[in-house]
Amino acid sequence: MPRMKKQDYLKDAVKHIEISRHNVVPMVEAMGEMAFSARDLARAAKIYDTMLQDRNCSVILTLAGSLFSAGLKKVVVDLVRNNMVDAIVSTGAVMVDQDFFEALGFKHYKGAAGGVDDNELRELRIDRIYDTFIDEDELRVCDQTTRKIADSLEPRPYSSREFIEEMGRYLSKHGRNKDSVVLAAYEKRVPIFVPAFSDCSAGFGMIEHQWNNPGKHMSMDSAKDFLELTKLKIEARDTGLLMIGGGVPKNFTQDTVVAADILGEEAPMHKYAVQVTVADVRDGGLSSSTLKEACSWGKVQTTQEQMVYAEATLAFPLIAGYAYHKGSWKKRKARNYADFLNKELAKAA
Ligand SMILES: NC(=O)c1ccc[n+]([C@@H]2O[C@H](COP(=O)([O-])OP(=O)(O)OC[C@H]3O[C@@H](n4cnc5c(N)ncnc54)[C@H](O)[C@@H]3O)[C@@H](O)[C@H]2O)c1
Repeated sequence: MPRMKKQDYLKDAVKHIEISRHNVVPMVEAMGEMAFSARDLARAAKIYDTMLQDRNCSVILTLAGSLFSAGLKKVVVDLVRNNMVDAIVSTGAVMVDQDFFEALGFKHYKGAAGGVDDNELRELRIDRIYDTFIDEDELRVCDQTTRKIADSLEPRPYSSREFIEEMGRYLSKHGRNKDSVVLAAYEKRVPIFVPAFSDCSAGFGMIEHQWNNPGKHMSMDSAKDFLELTKLKIEARDTGLLMIGGGVPKNFTQDTVVAADILGEEAPMHKYAVQVTVADVRDGGLSSSTLKEACSWGKVQTTQEQMVYAEATLAFPLIAGYAYHKGSWKKRKARNYADFLNKELAKAA
């Protein structure tokens, strides 16, 4: 028998940091006069601000890692609402298990990283992400909601971008927490791509949908995703990448330059690039690979790039907060790439 009750563990919610409340500009500028990671971070923040000043540059944000459960969701909500990003490429966990989950009215709770009995958590149906607790029963509601959305759609192949737009539409009617990236992006017509869509809570909903509807179900088309993101790159031409973590979103986005070339279309290398990661460069892995290395593959220009080797909960509020308080975004207009992509689909139909 568990010694504690579920509600003893799930009582102190993670609160999302608000970049608008903390003017970090003087601190980031002072860090730029230091050395090591502090100077790297300040340079990254300035490059992001330069992307926002560049009238021709579209900004693509990539997200991997357990970022929103850790309190970074509102940072991205504010970037979307203030035209500071034009497209997002993410892991499924961030967009579904964490953002959509909270939009349904659920929360992540402060837990402990050590001294916690994981067997007891298992008995109570509590999941743990390092020092954060989640109610497994609530996650099941999230899976079921994605199944319901899948059940409601015409059976055909969809890009994850199309499906996430449907999730945004669902939240606009039934959402219980308006601070959601899926909802904000739906309203601001910012496309969200999740290339490995089934590898998250939504995957459980998808398999149930396909299991219950053999031969007559919707499906995810990963190549359609890649083609849509490549069309966006061709349309945008100049792009800046703000990458938090590495993983599939990093490579998928960088590859659009090569993809355009293969289609015989002209698309310049990504003009600006910033990456925050904790990955170690020695293993040759994708998540740690430097932006200079990406130049050898014809993906990223080397003049305005910066790697920041830091954990995202520390670095991202400083980089985003710096750009927010510099205010260059005030002159930017919404690119409405979600509408552009829907028009492209209609043309192809
Ligand atoms: N992360 C989760 O909690 C979780 C939960 C369920 C499913 N998944 C799925 O697992 C797959 C992998 O996703 P992922 O999000 O775990 O990515 P990941 O852990 O594979 O992250 C990729 C890389 O990003 C960097 N990174 C991750 N977190 C970071 C941080 N806080 N600060 C700086 N750098 C960081 C690391 O270098 C890492 O190697 C996805 O398909 C996702 O949907 C993840």
